[in-house]
Amino acid sequence: MRILGIETSCDETAVALVEDGRLLGERLATQVDVHALFGGVVPEIASREHLRVLPRLYRSLMHDVGLEPGDVDGVAVARGPGLLGSLLVGVSFAKGLSLSTGAFLVGVNHLWAHLLAPGLAGDLRFPALGLLVSGGHTHTYRIESPVEFALLGRTLDDAAGEAFDKVAKVLNFPYPGGRFIDELAREGEPDKGLFPRAFIDNPSLDFSFSGLKTAVATYVAAHPDLVFETMADPAAVAALSGERRARLAGVCASFNWAVADTLRIKVERALRRAGPVKSLIVAGGVAANSLVRETMARLAGENGIALNLPDLSLCTDNGAMIAHAGWLMARAGLHHGLDLEAVPRGRVVPQDWLRGELGV
Ligand code: KG4
Ligand code: ZN
Repeated sequence: MRILGIETSCDETAVALVEDGRLLGERLATQVDVHALFGGVVPEIASREHLRVLPRLYRSLMHDVGLEPGDVDGVAVARGPGLLGSLLVGVSFAKGLSLSTGAFLVGVNHLWAHLLAPGLAGDLRFPALGLLVSGGHTHTYRIESPVEFALLGRTLDDAAGEAFDKVAKVLNFPYPGGRFIDELAREGEPDKGLFPRAFIDNPSLDFSFSGLKTAVATYVAAHPDLVFETMADPAAVAALSGERRARLAGVCASFNWAVADTLRIKVERALRRAGPVKSLIVAGGVAANSLVRETMARLAGENGIALNLPDLSLCTDNGAMIAHAGWLMARAGLHHGLDLEAVPRGRVVPQDWLRGELGV
């Protein structure tokens, strides 16, 4: 079964083709440079960019893999959560393709797709505990199968990636800043008492990162020499040296540790609460973070369960994860009609699929 995946939920436009769980090809256009000028994603610009580049990405992918539109059995599209205007571009394109070629349509939950992405590289073992740490979400799930997710915990305020981006913004790092904090943090030693690990002294599985972000902002305001005068570009971060670099590395290491250790505490708690699982799956942009990866590897080892971490290219938004999740859904006989709705951030993605053999 050949599935085309389409991703337009935020600031990456991406398409990919998967055949029976194997990636045939993919194309991605990032808008990061456009939004960097504003220090964050501007929704109206994001939709227009998707509209401009999606058709040509699709055409060049089909050309790369040597397939015709009619050779695709199903079209999988990220239907939410995300920016509504951006999602509508992908969903409308997918509906047009489905209508004109007869391929079936599958609306994919973008968050589930992140967590299923490591399945492209190796088998996932269920039941699993899933930790999704991205720019918009921090969720834990008990995952029974590729199409059965039960939410255990979520952030009450900022997502983990959002905390990275906001701390980076306070320091005037390039946008999005998670990667730069990670790089500097690796050179420093964390001061474990410097910043609070918020909302851990309770039995809750939920997260809160806004207090940590504020604590870093307050510290930085009291040490203004740490901040770049204007928004730095990556070369300016690389060129930092001497005592200033060392102090900044210490702040980044302390913040990064506070995030990673909060995630450790909550995931450990979720593992105890969720009942026996065979694996821990960690996904989303923040799963690219070195300390988060190390911490989760240790946790899985201590609990005697397998760890599934996507390759770095599969951590951030991409088309392959949508095609892969769509393939898993189609294999379970799930698909959608042309009335598929896009779901904006903050609303739960409904499980409103149609069931039945797809005839491929
Ligand atoms: O999953 P993703 O591409 O977007 C959403 O769907 O939200 O994640 C993007 C987030 C950004 O907040 C970015 O700063 C963060 O992932 N990120 C990192 C690293 N690489 C990306 N955060 C910490 N360390 C990294 N190495
Ligand atoms: Zn994402």
